Amino acid sequence: MTRTLIVTGGAGFIGSNFIHTLVSSRPTWKIVNLDALTYAGNLENLTAIERHPGYTFVHGDITRAADVERAFAAARELGGPISVVHFAAESHVDRSIQSGLPFVNTNVLGTQVVLDAARAHKVERFVHVSTDEVYGSLGATGYFTEDTPLAPNSPYSASKAASDLLVRAAVHTFGFPGLITRCSNNYGPYQFPEKLIPLMIANAGEGKPLPVYGDGMNVRDWLYVVDHCEAILAVLERGRLGETYNIGGHNEYPNIYIVKRILAELGQPESLITYVKDRLGHDRRYAIDASKIERELGWRPRFRFEDALPLTVAWYRSQTQWMQRVRNGAYREYYSRQYGS
Ligand code: NAD
Ligand code: DAU
Repeated sequence: MTRTLIVTGGAGFIGSNFIHTLVSSRPTWKIVNLDALTYAGNLENLTAIERHPGYTFVHGDITRAADVERAFAAARELGGPISVVHFAAESHVDRSIQSGLPFVNTNVLGTQVVLDAARAHKVERFVHVSTDEVYGSLGATGYFTEDTPLAPNSPYSASKAASDLLVRAAVHTFGFPGLITRCSNNYGPYQFPEKLIPLMIANAGEGKPLPVYGDGMNVRDWLYVVDHCEAILAVLERGRLGETYNIGGHNEYPNIYIVKRILAELGQPESLITYVKDRLGHDRRYAIDASKIERELGWRPRFRFEDALPLTVAWYRSQTQWMQRVRNGAYREYYSRQYGS
C-alpha cells in the first residue's frame, strides 16, 4: 500500500537512515521530511535520495505551528491518508546537562505542536520515536520491559518521557492513533560525532585522546541503525494502535570494551584511552527486553555487532569530507566546552 508519510527530524542520524530505508524498501511511498536543520541536521545525509520523485523537504521547526502546517500542506498535495514518524528532538545527554531548555522546547513543546497538527489532520498513524533512557538505570541484572515504570534521570530523558506521556494522553483522551517505540543506543552511518562510537572513531583516526567517562564500565545495548529503521517500519505498518514497543540489539557491552574494539579496528594503541570526569548522573546500565516486538511483529535485529561495528568504522573512514564538514567551528566549540580542550 502506498503511504504519504511526514518524517520529522529526517536530516538527523536515525531519520536520514529511515528515509534511505523507505526509499529502497517502499519506493512508491511519498515522504515529506520536516527538519529545522539544527547542528545535528544535515541534508548531506540525504544527497543520494534528494531527487527521488516521492521525496519533499520542508525546512521548519516543530515548535512553530505554522511550520508544521506547511509540512501537512505539502503532504496533502501528495494525496492519500497521512501518517507521521516523529524523530525530531534534541538528542544528546551531555548537551542536556549543559543546558536543559532547548530539550524542553523541542522535545516537549515541539511534540505537542506536532500532535495537535496530526490530530487536526486526522492522521492514519503516528509513531513517536522514544528511548530506553525514559526507564532510568538498571543494576547488574534485569531488563527494561514496556511495563517498567518511567524514571528518567537526565534532562534529555526527562524531556523524552514527557513527550511519551503527551502521546499517551492523546491516545487516551482523543482515541489518537499513536504508537511509541523505545530503543537502545544506535550506531551506524551519519551519526553526529558527539556520540560515543563516532567520537571515538574520529579521535582514534587522528591519534587524539579517547575520553572515557568514569570507570568505563557503564553498559549500553547497541543496535545497528538499519535494524532500528526496520523495526520502526514494522511498528508503523503493523503495530497495535496505542501500544509501546521496546527495540533492542541484544548487544550489551561496557563502554571500555567498545572503545578497545574501535582502537583494534583502526590499529591504534590503547594508550590513547583517557579516563575523564564522569558524566553527571551517569546511568549505569541499560538493557532491553524486546520480546514484545519480536513476538507480535516478527522483527529481530539482522546485524551482528561483530559485523556492523567494522562496517561502521569503515564508513566513517571513507567519509573524510563529511566528517570534516560536521566537525566545524560549532563542533569544536562544543568539544572544548565538554572536554576542556
Ligand atoms: P539527531 O540529533 O541525530 O537528529 C535530530 C534531528 O532533529 C536533526 O535533523 C535536527 O535538525 C532535527 N531537529 C531538532 N530540533 C528540531 C526542531 N525543533 N524542529 C525540527 N527539527 C528538529 O538525533 P537521532 O540520534 O537521529 O535521534 C532521533 C530520535 O531518536 C530522537 O527522538 C531520539 O530521542 C531518538 N533516539 C535516539 C537514539 C540514538 O541512539 N541516537 C536512541 C533512542 C532514541
Ligand atoms: O539509550 C538510547 C540513547 O542513547 C538515546 O536516547 C540518546 O539519544 C543517545 O544519545 C544515546 O544516549 P547515551 O548517553 O547512552 O549515548 P552516548 O553516545 O552519549 O554515550 C554512550 C556511553 O558512552 C555513555 O555511557 C556515556 C559514554 N561516553 C560518551 C561520550 C560521548 C563516554 O564515556 N565518553 C564520551 O565522550
